[in-house]
Amino acid sequence: MNLTVIGTGYVGLVTGTCLADMGNIVTCVDIDKDKVKAMQNGKVPIFEPNLEELFHKNISGDRLYFTTNLEEAIKDSTVIFLALPTPQDEDGSADLSYVKNVAHDLGKLIKDYKIIINKSTVPVGTSDIVKDIVSSHTDVEFDVVSNPEFLREGYAVKDFMEPERIIIGSKSRKAKSILSKLYKPFISTKRPIIFMDERSSELTKYASNCFLATKITFMNEIANLCEIIGSDVDMVRIGMGTDSRIGNRFLYPGIGYGGSCFPKDVNALVKSSDEVNYNFKILKSVIDVNVNQKKSLVPKLSRYFKDDLKDKKVAIWGLAFKPNTDDIREAPAIDVINELLLRDVEIAAYDPEAMTNIERIYGNKIQYGKNAYDILEDADCLLICTEWSEFTQPSFNRMKSLLKNPIIFDGRNMFDLEVMENNGFYYESVGRKT
Ligand code: UGA
Repeated sequence: MNLTVIGTGYVGLVTGTCLADMGNIVTCVDIDKDKVKAMQNGKVPIFEPNLEELFHKNISGDRLYFTTNLEEAIKDSTVIFLALPTPQDEDGSADLSYVKNVAHDLGKLIKDYKIIINKSTVPVGTSDIVKDIVSSHTDVEFDVVSNPEFLREGYAVKDFMEPERIIIGSKSRKAKSILSKLYKPFISTKRPIIFMDERSSELTKYASNCFLATKITFMNEIANLCEIIGSDVDMVRIGMGTDSRIGNRFLYPGIGYGGSCFPKDVNALVKSSDEVNYNFKILKSVIDVNVNQKKSLVPKLSRYFKDDLKDKKVAIWGLAFKPNTDDIREAPAIDVINELLLRDVEIAAYDPEAMTNIERIYGNKIQYGKNAYDILEDADCLLICTEWSEFTQPSFNRMKSLLKNPIIFDGRNMFDLEVMENNGFYYESVGRKT
């Protein structure tokens, strides 16, 4: 099939590349001329495992193209994906201006039947809005479909190629039949397509992300309670997770969820619920708890140093909001750094991928390491904010020889308590004994 993907952010690029890999001819459109030029020259604009290889393979195979010309890009395609940004407005709602602008353009340009698919996370009712805008410009037949993505950063290619389910929100038989063919290579009895109406599909995406954010937050509260009453959250987590009704994934406590999706989507669902006078109490609490959880390493540190943090040197391992990405949007490490800077703490930070991004924010306000060890020199303690695999088995002797004091505050529960004790560290983690 000939396909068009509008928007070459993280979702658009992964969608376009993976669909090209199934033999489709995919044209990706973006308004950013420099980005399009770079992609035409074979440069992948984001870091995502396995993407680069597929990207080059499909460009060489003449199946993946990039352009700024929307009219050309949609000419031969029946299926058009919208993978546009829906940033958070100041009031917490999703800003639909990119989606609406493109809907106007499409309305003016389409000359034959098109399926316009919303891949971005958009508030319930957006399919209707797009439908109204397009039809205000044209009498040509078209369908608007909601088909949310469930890609995790760091696993996006795998999640696209092996989805647990594909949600298609549409009442049009024609659209459903064409999309069933398009997605055929990705589905099996274990990985179904679930058809529903547009509004249910749009809510499914928000409900999924908000539920996961709630699940994590619930465990963060259990961990906080464990610290007070002396239980071990690892044991509680394992005990709970063996109940198949609960499941063992997304039960890991830490210093809060971050990223470009959960925080934005939780805020947006609260906001759209408020708009229809529904007080979504659980989600409001989730937001509250997460704000505090993201800073929760700081009071621990403060308590240890008896409120005397001024001019202490703190080393930080991990800045990205999670491992395997350079993304620092809503990363807990940023909340931690901001809180420490307010207390005149000297900070030296290291992350395997996110250094450039963090340097853009802090400039010379903090120090940066070339590797995990060089920031430890003369540091009063180490904080761990992201569980990168390269931190999993460090040389504890080397760490001890560099650190002023063998003290670690771990926001991601990376090490066994016994191992740390045997290696002579003072070790505080989340929801476990000190
Ligand atoms: C999330 C969803 O998992 C995807 O299904 C969804 O498609 C995507 O948002 C989106 O809407 O685009 P992502 O933001 O990439 O994906 O990251 P996750 O792996 O879900 O992690 C989110 C946050 O939760 C991270 O800060 C992570 O550290 C935290 N987390 C996750 C925990 O604190 N504990 C856990 O057990 C799991």
